[in-house]
Amino acid sequence: MNRPDVLQRTGNYPVPPGASDIPGLEVAGVIASGDAAAMAAAGLKVGDRVCALVAGGGYAQWCVAPVGQCLPVPDGLDDIAAASLPETFFTVWSNVFDRARLQAGETLLIQGGTSGIGVTAIQMAKALGARVIATAGSDDKCAACLALGADHAINYKTQDFVTAVADLTGGQGVNVVLDMVAGAYVAREIECLVEDGRLVIIAVQGGVKAEFNAGMVLRKRLTITGSTLRPRPIAFKTAIAQSLRERVWPLLAQGLIKPVIHQVFPASEAAAAHTLMESNRHIGKLVLTWA
Ligand SMILES: NC(=O)c1ccc[n+]([C@@H]2O[C@H](COP(=O)([O-])OP(=O)(O)OC[C@H]3O[C@@H](n4cnc5c(N)ncnc54)[C@H](OP(=O)(O)O)[C@@H]3O)[C@@H](O)[C@H]2O)c1
Repeated sequence: MNRPDVLQRTGNYPVPPGASDIPGLEVAGVIASGDAAAMAAAGLKVGDRVCALVAGGGYAQWCVAPVGQCLPVPDGLDDIAAASLPETFFTVWSNVFDRARLQAGETLLIQGGTSGIGVTAIQMAKALGARVIATAGSDDKCAACLALGADHAINYKTQDFVTAVADLTGGQGVNVVLDMVAGAYVAREIECLVEDGRLVIIAVQGGVKAEFNAGMVLRKRLTITGSTLRPRPIAFKTAIAQSLRERVWPLLAQGLIKPVIHQVFPASEAAAAHTLMESNRHIGKLVLTWA
C-alpha cells in the first residue's frame, strides 16, 4: 500500500490513461506466465520470485507487470517484504539520486522521515554515503528515524525545522531536500538549502501554492524540481529498475537496507489499512496479502 492508493480512493489521483483502475502500485509473487524471450533478455523466467512496480492493478491475486519493471526478490526477503519495496525505491532513486543528484558526503533533509518513502530515503541515502536529517511529527517517530540511521531527527511539531537545520549544519544548510509537503514548506526549505542546493517535491500534502523568495533562488543558484512516477513510460521505469538492481539490490541482500513493515493486513481488511494510513500513526509500510 502507498499513500497514492488513498488519494486514488478519495478521487484525488486520476488513473493514468491505459492503467488499471484497480488500486495498487507494487506487487510481489511468482511469475505465472509471460513473453519468454522478453523475460530471458531480462534474466527472468516462469516460476521466478519477483517484485514489480505497476501503474495500477496491484490489489489482486493476479497482476500484469512489464518485464522491465520486475526485479528479483532480494536474497533473504519474503514476499511481504519484497512487496513493500518497488514504489518507494523507484520514487526515491528517481527523485533523490537522478533528479536531485545527491552525492556521497552531501546532506539530505527528508520531510516525513517515517513515511513509506521516508524510511526508504533515510536508509538508501545513508547506505550511499550521505548525511541525513529527517523530520517527523512526534518524538517516537523521530526515534524511529534515528534507529533507521538518520544522523538527526527534527520533531516538526515542536521545533522549527529551518532553525534546527541551521543549528545541525553549523549554519551551512543542506544540499538536497526531499519534500512531500510543499505549500508553506517551500519557502522554508529554500532557506535550508546551501548554494547549488536542490529541492525535489514529490507530493503537495500542505497545498499546491507556494510563495517564496525568488531572489534566494538566484543568489544560491538553487534547483527546484519534482516528479510523479506513475504516469511515466515503461522505458523510464525500466531504466530506474536497472539502476536499482545494480546499486541498491545488493545492499538489500546484504541487510544494509531493510524493508520497514508496520503492519500486514489480509486483502479483506484493505479498508482498515487505508484508515490506519490516513491516521498517520504508521511507521514504514503497510502490506496487503492475498491467500
Ligand atoms: N511523486 C511520486 O512519484 C510519489 C510516489 C509515491 C508517493 N508519493 C507521495 O509521497 C508521500 C509519501 O507517500 P507514502 O506512501 O510514503 O505515504 P505515508 O507513509 O502515508 O506517509 C505520509 C507522511 O506524510 C507526513 N506528513 C503529513 N503531513 C505532513 C506535514 N505537514 N509535514 C511533514 N510531514 C507530514 C506524515 O508523517 P508525520 O506523522 O510525521 O506528519 C506521514 O508519515 C505521499 O504524499 C505520496 O502521495 C509521491
